[in-house]
Amino acid sequence: MTNDHEPFPLELFAPGTTLEGDELVLGGCRASAIARAVGTPALVMDEAALRERARRYREGLAARWADSGVVWASKSLPVTAIYRTLAEEGLGVDVAGGGELVMALRAGVDPAAIVVHGNAKTDAELDLALEAGVGLVVIDNRDDLARLEARAPRGQRVLVRVRPDVAAATHEAMATGGEGSKFGLSLEAAEGVIAELRASRTLVLEGLHVHVGSQICETEPFTRAVEAVGQLGEFSTYDLGGGLGARYTLDTVVPGVEAYLDALTVAARAALPAGARLLIEPGRSIVAEAACTLYSVVTVKEGARRPLVAVDGGMGDNLEVSLYGQAFDATLANRVGRGEPVTLVGRHCESGDELIASVGLRDPRVGDLVAVPVTGAYCLTMANNYNGALRPPIVLVREGHARVVQRRETYEDLVRRDVDEPVL
Ligand SMILES: Cc1ncc(COP(=O)(O)O)c(C=O)c1O
Repeated sequence: MTNDHEPFPLELFAPGTTLEGDELVLGGCRASAIARAVGTPALVMDEAALRERARRYREGLAARWADSGVVWASKSLPVTAIYRTLAEEGLGVDVAGGGELVMALRAGVDPAAIVVHGNAKTDAELDLALEAGVGLVVIDNRDDLARLEARAPRGQRVLVRVRPDVAAATHEAMATGGEGSKFGLSLEAAEGVIAELRASRTLVLEGLHVHVGSQICETEPFTRAVEAVGQLGEFSTYDLGGGLGARYTLDTVVPGVEAYLDALTVAARAALPAGARLLIEPGRSIVAEAACTLYSVVTVKEGARRPLVAVDGGMGDNLEVSLYGQAFDATLANRVGRGEPVTLVGRHCESGDELIASVGLRDPRVGDLVAVPVTGAYCLTMANNYNGALRPPIVLVREGHARVVQRRETYEDLVRRDVDEPVL
């Protein structure tokens, strides 16, 4: 390997990311200082970038459709401090499970601003949501309807999730709007549920919900979904879901937030009643680009095609690669730049534990820091204890200050739930 290198484009990192000499500076904090303070792997979130992204969505939608709201899809980064930060920016929250609901409430999110989803909500989760007084429950199936009728307080507001038969061009595991999806009701089945809801003395049908998938990099599937729900009659609320893609690599082309909002509201103007309330539920496109993961290089060895650089994380903290084939880019954080291509692999006992098949790192050596940008969405969400790995901390950086808002797991955490209790 040589020391010749090209510059690494910082545009994949959060705006405001800079260099001090050869070193990456995140939110005003040197990467090496963050790594020394909290260890690696660590998810580092630029708080200003996160807030800015939330504002762009909220103000952008309000400018185009006055009666509107942005509901953050919290599955993308369910951490109490992130719920709190985005609530401070005026976003509502979508939860898809009891645990997400508990975190949202713990963060102080107004229950009226919470939308509850799920294709298989349990009785216990519904009870928790109703007890908390959540604003909207999304009915995904007939059993939801029956369960809610039996337990909801009079006046509980609901939406009906519609499967619009729109197949978005994304990984099949991230597509939710097509015919084969497990989510929502076909247009025909939705009509039946809508009729039943209109006769309900308990539930108040506010409107419809639609979500066609995640990491969608064109606007057309979103506009087709709006057209589809427009066929079901007039309602007072339409929740148009999330799904806008994030720019993971330099060659990923994604519509900007404004282009996406333009497309959505133009379609809504044509297909939906003018007085309706519009909600959207972005997750990935709010949090992904504001964060990166810092790793340490543990070993470098020859590989069949190119050198193998192994770091102290991998599929334990980033399942996006193995689940969805998501492409990422990376640079050394302490020697930023492009060098000879290497394969960046993780530390888990699994051949598929490869973070990037080919990436130009600048003369990587043991002890170097690697920064993988655009890891804010779904990485921490799906972090796991494979090989007894400890789930990483999340660090918020801003104006030269860094604070841990969720600590790294400890070995003690791994055995904390061990018991030996007779149950039958
Ligand atoms: C119902 C619903 N809303 C919103 C989202 C958020 O999607 P994304 O993170 O791609 O914006 C999801 C995730 O797939 C979802 O299932």
